[in-house]
Amino acid sequence: MRIHTAIASLRAARARAGRVAFVPTMGNLHDGHIALMREAARRADTVIASIFVNRLQFGPAEDFDKYPRTPEADREKLEAVGVAHLFAPDETVMYPQAQGCRVVPGPGQADILEGACRPGHFCGVATVVLKLFNIVAPDVALFGKKDYQQLMVLTNMARELALPTEIVAQDTLRAADGLALSSRNRYLSPAERAEAPRLYRQIALVAEAVRGGARDYAALEAAALETLQGHGWQPDYFTVRRRADLQAPQRPDEALVILAAARLGATRLIDNLEV
Ligand code: PAF
Repeated sequence: MRIHTAIASLRAARARAGRVAFVPTMGNLHDGHIALMREAARRADTVIASIFVNRLQFGPAEDFDKYPRTPEADREKLEAVGVAHLFAPDETVMYPQAQGCRVVPGPGQADILEGACRPGHFCGVATVVLKLFNIVAPDVALFGKKDYQQLMVLTNMARELALPTEIVAQDTLRAADGLALSSRNRYLSPAERAEAPRLYRQIALVAEAVRGGARDYAALEAAALETLQGHGWQPDYFTVRRRADLQAPQRPDEALVILAAARLGATRLIDNLEV
């Protein structure tokens, strides 16, 4: 695997790479990322991964400084799965001057759910992903469904800005007890790790009820919130939305997704499940 820290070096390699599948990450790679790399390899001649912890998508009180950085272990995992090129720029390469020009996702996309809890987050995500796309020029880029709203924002960005990159979604990878794999799971104490799968269990219970015909979403959401709070969680939201735009369902035949975010101790976990 070749590691590129400079844009010019990555671009030169990309020019000889044929069809490229790109997996952008913030590092601290887990099996969910590795599954994305494997799927990427099925879709192109060359896989390019990136590791860049993007300051723009973190709020001032968020975990940018303590976000886990494990470059050695990440490199080994990427080598082992056959990634050809790793783009690992530092901030002086990605943001040599203040990033004044930014991507503002359309109304109703970035200010709900995660965006309401983390103002500016999706503007930061969309900006860095567009910049990475301009550097890597991928034919296809892969993202996990765990960050469901991120996937929606980026899919809309690609469509609305006529980007030549196809956006592909990959199902969430889970531990045996249901907990969605996430870099932030490593913040959990052993007791919190044992409690953490409850978030997915509650989502799965509501999904089952909806599949069974339940339509009083407000009651289902309230019961799930109460259960989580009763077990020491501080939920930000637990909500049934339509998949297309993550707005409240309007008609009985719409494809739905259940999304939740909640804090367990100092760790904020998110998860979702399509119904
Ligand atoms: O999902 C992530 O890891 C990040 O939001 C991304 C897409 C790499 C942008 O920094």
